[in-house]
Amino acid sequence: MDIVEKLICEHKLSKEEFALLIGLRQDPGVCERLQKEALRLRRQHFGNDVYIRGLIEFTNICKNDCRYCGIRKSNANLPRYRLSEDEILSCCEAGYGLGFRTFVLQGGEDAFFTDECLVPIIRQIKERYPDCAVTLSIGERSYYSYKALREAGADRYLLRHETADKEHYAKLHPKGMSLRHRVNCLLDLKNLGYQTGAGFMVGSPYQTDECLAEDLVFLAELQPEMVGIGPFIPHHDTEYADCPAGSVETTLFLLSVIRIMLPRVLLPATTALGTEAADGRERAMSYGANVVMPNLSPTDNQEMYKLYDGKIGVGDTAQESMNKLKEGLKAAGFNIVIERGDYPT
Ligand code: 5AD
Repeated sequence: MDIVEKLICEHKLSKEEFALLIGLRQDPGVCERLQKEALRLRRQHFGNDVYIRGLIEFTNICKNDCRYCGIRKSNANLPRYRLSEDEILSCCEAGYGLGFRTFVLQGGEDAFFTDECLVPIIRQIKERYPDCAVTLSIGERSYYSYKALREAGADRYLLRHETADKEHYAKLHPKGMSLRHRVNCLLDLKNLGYQTGAGFMVGSPYQTDECLAEDLVFLAELQPEMVGIGPFIPHHDTEYADCPAGSVETTLFLLSVIRIMLPRVLLPATTALGTEAADGRERAMSYGANVVMPNLSPTDNQEMYKLYDGKIGVGDTAQESMNKLKEGLKAAGFNIVIERGDYPT
């Protein structure tokens, strides 16, 4: 049995085997077999459906200083903002009208948003839109905080692990942040019954094939309900300003591997992928992706929430980005659906 067959049959490989497979990412035969199986599984579980998530970037204030990120604490060139509860609710209202049934509250690690502050916001959204899911993407918090937010009604949580290689993690992050703490957060989230999302950047500085293999082993162990991956893209106000962006082809290759490993996973075609290739998100759908996350943030704030340079859609209204996406996806043979789009049980 060759390595592609083994992945297809067993849904996982050893770290060494994953590294070997990643080494074959430029082999057209290998890519084609992976893509074909990923698309088959996508169709089996989701047909041609694409789930949409309305992203609300509600604060760009962050206490962390991740070296790759445009909203890192030490970026003094960035005007900072917070949306009010009313502004957040207006984003939901507009999004609901456009067919969104999941709202993603994403932000930096902003101490202003205590549990006392967030719980009523989550409750309000769930009360006004009982047919909608709420996803949080607000970084590392305590078990008790995750518990309080879950009890307030949050359904899902996105927390990319960024890299599962300890040394690589330490290179990308300042002292004080650790892979172990991040992984503990992910385990807490799973234990609390969140549909949990991990993920990583493709082509981040110092990343090797072994790092990526470790990421895949980690995902196979964690069994997350969601996985977010996208190419690393340099941001001009970071020390990685001159580093090359991650590869679109490698991202597509890894999407197909992840679909095969986790057949029912919720797998977004990320904005970063759409930024690196005009048709990146549409192409991702035939490599196993089944989610897109258009921006519902007020247009004036979008400029101030750039994690990397060149981010697509900045300044577009939610209606505009939806229209663009719908058209592109339709042409690629996929349909946006008006559903919560939970992890299938
Ligand atoms: N390029 C691509 N993705 C990035 N992220 C942060 N900075 C960058 C960048 N420069 C990703 C991280 C984070 C997610 C919200 O955005 O993986 O978890």
